[in-house]
Amino acid sequence: MSHLQAIDQGVISFAHPAWSRPLFEGDRGRPRYRAAKGGRASGKSPFFAEILIKRMIENPDTKAICIREVQRSLEFSSKQLLADKIISMGLLHYFEIQQNRIRSVFGEGIIIFQGMQDHTSDSVKSLEGFDIAWCEEAQSLSSRSIELLDPTIRKEGSEIWFSWNPYKKTDPVEEFFRDNDQSVLVHVNYLENPFCSENIKEMAARSKAQNISKYNHVWLGDYMKDVEGALWKDPMIRKAQNFDEVPQLERIVVAIDPAVTAKENSDETGIIVAGRLGERFFILDDLSLRASPDTWARAVVEAYHHWNADRIVAEVNNGGDLVEKVIRTIDRSVPYTPVRASRGKILRAEPIAALYEQGKVSHCGEFRELEDQMTSYTPLSKKSPDRLDALVWALTELSRSTGQAVWRIS
Ligand SMILES: Nc1ncnc2c1ncn2[C@@H]1O[C@H](COP(=O)(O)OP(=O)(O)OP(=O)(O)O)[C@@H](O)[C@H]1O
Ligand SMILES: [Mg+2]
Repeated sequence: MSHLQAIDQGVISFAHPAWSRPLFEGDRGRPRYRAAKGGRASGKSPFFAEILIKRMIENPDTKAICIREVQRSLEFSSKQLLADKIISMGLLHYFEIQQNRIRSVFGEGIIIFQGMQDHTSDSVKSLEGFDIAWCEEAQSLSSRSIELLDPTIRKEGSEIWFSWNPYKKTDPVEEFFRDNDQSVLVHVNYLENPFCSENIKEMAARSKAQNISKYNHVWLGDYMKDVEGALWKDPMIRKAQNFDEVPQLERIVVAIDPAVTAKENSDETGIIVAGRLGERFFILDDLSLRASPDTWARAVVEAYHHWNADRIVAEVNNGGDLVEKVIRTIDRSVPYTPVRASRGKILRAEPIAALYEQGKVSHCGEFRELEDQMTSYTPLSKKSPDRLDALVWALTELSRSTGQAVWRIS
């Protein structure tokens, strides 16, 4: 039996959720733009992964690219998802999974993985012969990226697919789909995903009980609402999402706001890596996690070495000496500064928000959860979230050491 017959006769079965039907009612190349936006765990990524695999089997010469705005490594691409699907569906004999791409065994087809920010208007021309571009996390695409990509994917019958978790109504991808008559777009959520696990449903229910507007955004895929009184406004974050390349930095710190217990409901441990060059600050990584002290201490020390940092800064309000002890168990010699919050959170956060306002901070990567915490923290919030706390400690330490800080740190 040929592979096409195998698909037709359902030997290779693709069980797509009902929400995806409108997306594939058209012919090849019509509509040109196909998109699913919505909340977490709706099955958007697995769906496009399957469709792509199916296209590659139907036409083994298909050339596809999986695109993101920023792709720091293959780890942050859809490669693993595609590889897992190929293996779990028993389709490995159609593909060769190579280190940085997936190749068709029966034709010239390939799937490659790239970040738009790594492209220039010249380099993007290498994609002109591609049949499919799938943009994941498309809420992060800049208008420049869309403007570069769209005319590049120009082959007869080529298509561009988008999947995303809505963030702001004004995001370039939202604008792109407004009044776009060559497109089909569905809005989905986890309740429409027949494969959604009980665990995920429970997580969503917990989120709904705790904070309905966050639930609506994260799980139902509504736009993120501006939070009244929030210290960080959306334009301030936008201003920070502007980096091209991380320069040689004068100083780098790893800041940690530790959670001392690691139960399922316990706090996250905020871990932020940040650096400084003159009056400019760079957020390099957000490694926050929910884990035992041994695990977060290991993550912090690894980040210290990976980034060749100068110092680890830890808030010790809860953990006291324990924090230093667990870090020293992993590495006895790391330079370490404990900081204790005696002033109000908001007083510590304000000067840092001011740095954003002045456009002095750059986010070198995609830090959506951190950014969500920043734009939802207000003076009335009972507690500031852990990623944000770690960020404030990191930038406080870095700006203090410029020698011209205008505030004291307690
Ligand atoms: N076609 C499918 N076959 C098998 N499992 C699926 C399928 N679609 C979704 N799932 C399962 O449903 C869950 C939801 O998928 P996933 O979280 O990747 O969706 P998503 O909409 O891309 O979410 P996110 O916005 O978090 O990226 C996953 O646990 C996945 O295993
Ligand atoms: Mg996804």
